[in-house]
Amino acid sequence: MATILGIESSCDDTSASICIDGRIASNIIANQLVHQNYGGVVPELASRVHQQNIVPTVQEAISIAKIHKNDIDAVAFTRGPGLLGSLIVGTSFAKAFALASKIPLIEVNHMQAHILAHFIDEKPQFPFLCLTVSGGHTQIVLVRDHFDMEIVGETTDDAAGEAFDKTAKILGLPYPGGPLVDKLAREGNPNAFKFPEPQIPGLDFSFSGLKTSIMYFVRDRVKADPDFLTNNLNDICASVQSRIVSILLNKLKKAALEYNISRIAIAGGVSANSGLRTGLKDTASELGWEVFIPQFQYCTDNAGMIAIAGYFKYLKQDFVGQDVAPQARMHF
Ligand code: KG4
Ligand code: ZN
Repeated sequence: MATILGIESSCDDTSASICIDGRIASNIIANQLVHQNYGGVVPELASRVHQQNIVPTVQEAISIAKIHKNDIDAVAFTRGPGLLGSLIVGTSFAKAFALASKIPLIEVNHMQAHILAHFIDEKPQFPFLCLTVSGGHTQIVLVRDHFDMEIVGETTDDAAGEAFDKTAKILGLPYPGGPLVDKLAREGNPNAFKFPEPQIPGLDFSFSGLKTSIMYFVRDRVKADPDFLTNNLNDICASVQSRIVSILLNKLKKAALEYNISRIAIAGGVSANSGLRTGLKDTASELGWEVFIPQFQYCTDNAGMIAIAGYFKYLKQDFVGQDVAPQARMHF
């Protein structure tokens, strides 16, 4: 029997989860609305709100899981990558909790945890390819085992989530823009406007050219017609989303061919995008892929994925000492 407390605090969501023998018994996420006024995450404000949220969030995770804090066998926490000030709050809490309860401490890489979120329900067979798309990363990862992962392609500039968020900003929509662009795109025509597909060799990505072309497109059209944005918002969102999705899926198809793998997963905040989810399912039926798409609550940042990653490390007795420090940049 193993009961793991997972703590996630890498960006602007404070989250705690209890995992009992590989089953997620609770997954509590406290969002930070304070950033909406600034059009992006303000790191110092994020750390302060994490400090306010962390104790009640952990208490709720324990209570929803119907356990006592003495039942917890180990604490897993996000060590990185992420905002350093935010990571310090989760790391310090995890260290203090482990010390006070005399239980082991487990460090988790946030990007690996996004992938391991698949083992909460579906448990894909190895090897598989995972497209991890979040606000800070865009990676195609060859997953050979729970902790044997290799990045075979990644973005050379902006992340896919950033492309969504920056598009939203250009269109005057509030932060975080990804979910809003997704919502507006549902009522729009994806073929209304054509945005360029970057020609990047291999399995790497680039999104900064797309952002610039959207900026010039909007500037020129608004100059000619001041009501252009208001009258075409749904079509613009649908067209941009369709381009971002086609960039992602084309590289994924290339990777599947190159590695001769037809088990394909998506992970990270952008895997919540309805266009990507539908596009992936369509490509799967066309090419005979077996696809793995996480439940919505395990796509964006959450501690469930940290707790499940911690569970697999617990089985290997892979622990760290009290001298562990968070890392803003962290590779695997
Ligand atoms: O994984 P995540 O929660 O945090 C990071 O580790 O970055 O990803 C956040 C990103 C943001 O850029 C957000 O706009 C994007 O995921 N996102 C979406 C959707 N939901 C979240 N992008 C497009 N469509 C969505 N439905
Ligand atoms: Zn994330």
